[in-house]
Amino acid sequence: MRIKNLTSITFVAAGLLALASCSNNNTRTTIGDDGHLLWFNSLQMEAPATLGPTTLQIAQENIAKYWKSDRKVELKLNNEAVAELGTEGFEIDFSGANICASANSEVGLLYASYELLRLQETDELAAQNGKLTSVPAFERRVLNHWDNLDGTVERGFAGHSLWKWDEINADDVAANSNIYAEYASANASVGINGTVLNNVNANADILTEDYLLKVKALAEIFRPYGLKVYLSLNFAAPKHLANLETSDPLDNEVVAWWNAKVAEIYKLIPDFGGFLVKANSEGQSGPQDYGRTHADGANMIAKALEPFGGIVMWRAFVYDAQSPDRAKQAVEEFMPLDGQFADNVLIQIKNGPVDFQPREPFSPLFGQFEKTQAMVEVQITQEYLGHSNHLVFMHPMWKECLDSDTYERGEGSTVGAITEGKVMPYKYTAIAGVSNVGNDRNWCGHHFAQANWYAYGRMAWNPELSSEQIANEWLMQTFSKEKKFVDSVGKLMVASREACVKYEMPLGLHHTFKGPDHYGPGPWDRSIRPDWEPAYYHKAAADGLGFDRTMKGSGAVAQYHEPLKSLYNDVATCPENLILWFHHLPWDYKMKSGRTLWDELCLTFQSGINDARSFVDIWNSVEQYVDHQRFSDVKVRLERQAKDAIWWRDATIQYFQQFSGMALPDGCQPFQQKLEKLMKYRIGITNYENPKIETLPEYKLD
Ligand code: GCU
Repeated sequence: MRIKNLTSITFVAAGLLALASCSNNNTRTTIGDDGHLLWFNSLQMEAPATLGPTTLQIAQENIAKYWKSDRKVELKLNNEAVAELGTEGFEIDFSGANICASANSEVGLLYASYELLRLQETDELAAQNGKLTSVPAFERRVLNHWDNLDGTVERGFAGHSLWKWDEINADDVAANSNIYAEYASANASVGINGTVLNNVNANADILTEDYLLKVKALAEIFRPYGLKVYLSLNFAAPKHLANLETSDPLDNEVVAWWNAKVAEIYKLIPDFGGFLVKANSEGQSGPQDYGRTHADGANMIAKALEPFGGIVMWRAFVYDAQSPDRAKQAVEEFMPLDGQFADNVLIQIKNGPVDFQPREPFSPLFGQFEKTQAMVEVQITQEYLGHSNHLVFMHPMWKECLDSDTYERGEGSTVGAITEGKVMPYKYTAIAGVSNVGNDRNWCGHHFAQANWYAYGRMAWNPELSSEQIANEWLMQTFSKEKKFVDSVGKLMVASREACVKYEMPLGLHHTFKGPDHYGPGPWDRSIRPDWEPAYYHKAAADGLGFDRTMKGSGAVAQYHEPLKSLYNDVATCPENLILWFHHLPWDYKMKSGRTLWDELCLTFQSGINDARSFVDIWNSVEQYVDHQRFSDVKVRLERQAKDAIWWRDATIQYFQQFSGMALPDGCQPFQQKLEKLMKYRIGITNYENPKIETLPEYKLD
C-alpha cells in the first residue's frame, strides 16, 4: 500500500455524528421535482448551513450522512505531502477492508468524499478494487458569471443574478441566505474551485469598499468548499472611482491606485484569486485608450497581484469593425506581444476564433503562443444554442476544442495539452466557463442545462472523460438509474449538440442569428456594425455561400500550422462540417455525398429537424421514470425546440433560396411559414433574459 505518512488525525467518518446545523433556513426541497437538488437528487442531500463546518467537517459529513455501504470510509490527511497528488488531488484505496481516502489537504479530502458519493450513486463502487488516484488537469477551474450589479445577467436565461447585493449582510455573514453555500457545494462536488462574480463588461463600482465587504462575505461562505473568489475589473476604475485624470497603466498615480486597491482586497480576502479583464473590446476601456498595449495593461495589474499569489485572466476577445475578417484578429493583436506578459498573466481565449458559435474550428491563437500562457474560455450559458428553451448538452462541443490538435510542436499539441501546460511549461493553468446559473429555482432555467454546469466541472478536472460518461452519470444522479432511461436519454444528450448545429447553422455556417438576442434565425438581419450582421459571415450571393478564408480569400487558414493550413485551404480536404467557414462555394458544388451544396444544406437542416423531433418521442417514452413536474417542464421545451428547428430551417433556407434559385430536394418537409412573415418577427430585442417566445410564428409538429 502506497499511502504512508498519515497523520494521527485519522477520521473514521462512517458513523460520525451529523454536525449540528447552524443553518438559518433549510431551503433545499426534498420533494426533488422542482430541480433545485441538482445532481444531489438521488442522495436527497440536505441544504448546507450558510457558515459553520470546516472543509474537513463537510467531507466527514458527506460520508457520515450519505454513505450507504457497510464498508467504512476513512478520510486521512497525509502527514507529508505526496507530490503526485498536489494540493487538491486525492487517492482512494479500495483494496483493504475499509476504504481509505487520502489527500495532502482538506479540500483534497472534500473532493474525495464527493467522488465516493458519485461512485456510489452511479453504481460504480463494486467495480473499484485497487487504488484510484485523481488529480485535476487544470489548477484554476473557474466559473465566469456575467452578472451585473443591478441583478440582471448578460446572456443569462435562468432569472436574475444569484447575488443579492442589496441584501448581502457583510457584518453577520452567517445570517445570509444558505443558497450561497448550496452554490458552493454544487461547485465543489464537480471540482470547480473559482468563481468570477461579476460581468466582464464590468461596473467599476465592484471595487468600492461597500461591494468589497459583501464580496468578502461571499468569499467566507465559499471558502470551506475550496471555492475562491475573483472579480472582473473595469480598466477605467482609477478614473471612475478616484477621479484620476487618466487610467494609463504607465502612470505612477494609476499604478499606485491599483497597488493600494489590490492590497485592500487581500486584507479583506486573503485568498482572493485575481482579476478577469475585458479590455479594448466591444466598447470596454483598456490600455489602448492611452496608446499602451494589452501587455502593459495586464502586467501593471499582475504586478500588483503578484506578492499575494493572484493572477490576471486577460481576455483575447478583441475585434474591430473595420477588419475584413474578425476571425483573424486575436492572433494579429496578441502575437506581437508574445513573451511580454508577466508570468501571473493568462490569456483567456474563447474556444473558437469568433464567438461561441454552435461549431467553430479551434481558435488558432492556442497554437501560436510560444511564450505566453493561454487558457480556454467556453460558454456554459446557451447564448447561441437555444437559451434555456433548447436541450443542448455542450460537453461534446468543448471536448472537440480541447482535443483539437494545433500541431504547434508536432502531433499531439492539442489545445488541451497546451493549456494544461504539457507542451510548454506553464506556471499557472486554468480554464473558464461562462456560467448559466441564475436565481431560478432550478438554477439554470432548463433542467438539462444543469448538465452543462456539471459537465464543465467534470471536464475541467478531467478532460479525458467522455461525453457519454458524463451524461450518464449526471442522469443517474439527477433523474433515474433505470437502464432504459439512462440509455435512451444519455444518447439524446450526446446527440443534442450536433442536432443543434444541424438545425441552426450546419456545414460551417456561423452567426446567421437574429440580433442582438441571438435567439432564432436572421440571415437578413442588419445592425449598426457590419461585423454584427449575418451577411458578413455567410456571404450568400448568386455565386454561392460561405466565407473564403483560404489563401485566396482572407488568408485566415495561414494562422493554423501545417498540416491544418493546407487541409483547410484545399476544398477537397477541408472537413465538410467546417467547409463554409473556410470556403465560398457555388450552390451546385459537389459534396462528398454526390449531392449539390444546396441539397446537402437543405437535407442537413432537415436532419436537425428530425433529430429535434425524435427527442420529443424519446422523452415521451421515458415518462414513467421521471417525476411529473420535471417531465412536463422538459417536454414543453423539447416541443418548442423541435418547432424552433423548423423555424430556423424555414427562415434560413428560404432566405438563401433567393440567391440559389433552387428548390427543396426530396426528403425535405415543405416550408410551414413564408419568408416575408418570418422576417417581420422581432423578439427579445432589448431583453436578454426572457426571449418573448409568444411572439414566434405558429409551428406545428406532425
Ligand atoms: C458576446 C456576447 C456579449 C459578451 C461578449 C463577451 O459578444 O454577445 O454579450 O459581452 O461576447 O464575451 O465579452
